[in-house]
Amino acid sequence: MQRVTRMKRSILITGGAGFIGSHVVRLFVTKYPDYHIINLDKLTYAGNLANLKDIENAPNYTFVRADICDFDTVCSLFGQYSIDGVIHLAAESHVDRSIKDPFTFARTNVLGTLSLLQAAKHHWNGEWAGKRFYHISTDEVYGALQFDGSLFHETTKYDPHSPYSASKASSDHFVRAFHDTYGMPTLVTNCSNNYGPYQFPEKLIPLFINNIRHGKPLPVYGKGENVRDWLYVVDHARAIDTIFHNGKDGETYNIGGFNEWKNIDIVKVLIKTVDRLLGNAPGTSEHLITYVTDRPGHDLRYAIDSTKLKTELGWEPSLQFEEGIEKTVRWYLDHQEWMDNITSGEYEKYYDDMYKNR
Ligand code: NAD
Ligand code: DAU
Repeated sequence: MQRVTRMKRSILITGGAGFIGSHVVRLFVTKYPDYHIINLDKLTYAGNLANLKDIENAPNYTFVRADICDFDTVCSLFGQYSIDGVIHLAAESHVDRSIKDPFTFARTNVLGTLSLLQAAKHHWNGEWAGKRFYHISTDEVYGALQFDGSLFHETTKYDPHSPYSASKASSDHFVRAFHDTYGMPTLVTNCSNNYGPYQFPEKLIPLFINNIRHGKPLPVYGKGENVRDWLYVVDHARAIDTIFHNGKDGETYNIGGFNEWKNIDIVKVLIKTVDRLLGNAPGTSEHLITYVTDRPGHDLRYAIDSTKLKTELGWEPSLQFEEGIEKTVRWYLDHQEWMDNITSGEYEKYYDDMYKNR
């Protein structure tokens, strides 16, 4: 076990080996050398320690492989590391998987969140000063918008449609219930679609970049008319930093970049960018677009109003979409080994060997 002398803060980040979590862990480990960052991750198919190679030996970083649903283990971590802050990202995150296997989503997203809340309540024992439980959620809890220019606000009524968003909505309610019932200092944020390096290639942007590169079909659901609101993942991590330190207890903040795109238009941008960077003639990969059966219950449009976060806490996205997409496509093209290790399943074998005897 790594020894860490008592630091200013001891923060448990869950799901830190995933896409967004790895960016949050990296930001906190590098920006706050006097914080001890404990990354708790089960390493499901979506967790990948290669996402954190650059900081894995940092003196203020500890990785723990565990399941958030394992209450006894979570409780013992609170005691062992004197945790005073939680940033909770661990979740089953893919809508298509939730349609096939809703139980796993209820278990991890609802019961796992409850397990963490109970462990924090038990360990903090009513001494709330200096404590913080920050739950990372999604704009999908608000349901679907029409093409009418409306936006999701922090006060928008919850109306989840997929098993994924229903499980996230339930976990949000549990977090608020712990604030209202026990006085736990909590924060909830609801963010729009993230894109950027280290995203698991089941999600639209990395999947399509990889398929274009390999000349494989691009399965566009329905007519490709659905709209998502895209934010560069590093900007989400920056927002989490700002809110963790300056947000008001019990509050909700929406996070988004006022950046709506129809899926089909994103696909065309990806084709254009990948073809250009690979030196292909413009339009080379257009024929890969393949319209397929729509996702059941596919929400038409998401769009976040993040004015509260800007006016109250001063956060704004740092990257324009064009710049973010260029960086993202370049990153995936430059990290083909990272992608190949995932698509071949090699990365999971590595963990199985590494943890077999623990
Ligand atoms: P991800 O699927 O890339 O990563 C999830 C991580 O959680 C993985 O490392 C996985 O191993 C871990 N995990 C899963 N089940 C676990 C369990 N039972 N115990 C411990 N660890 C477990 O997800 P992501 O896209 O990085 O999303 C992170 C969080 O942000 C989620 O809560 C998600 O709902 C939320 N969110 C995501 C987006 C997005 O666009 N990706 C947008 C808004 C909110
Ligand atoms: O809005 C925030 C949410 O964004 C997060 O809470 C989720 O964790 C995250 O996965 C993401 O959900 P989406 O369902 O919007 O992301 P996904 O990348 O799966 O799909 C984006 C859009 O592209 C959606 O309208 C479905 C469509 N799509 C997706 C895939 C994977 C396709 O048309 N074809 C595909 O193959």
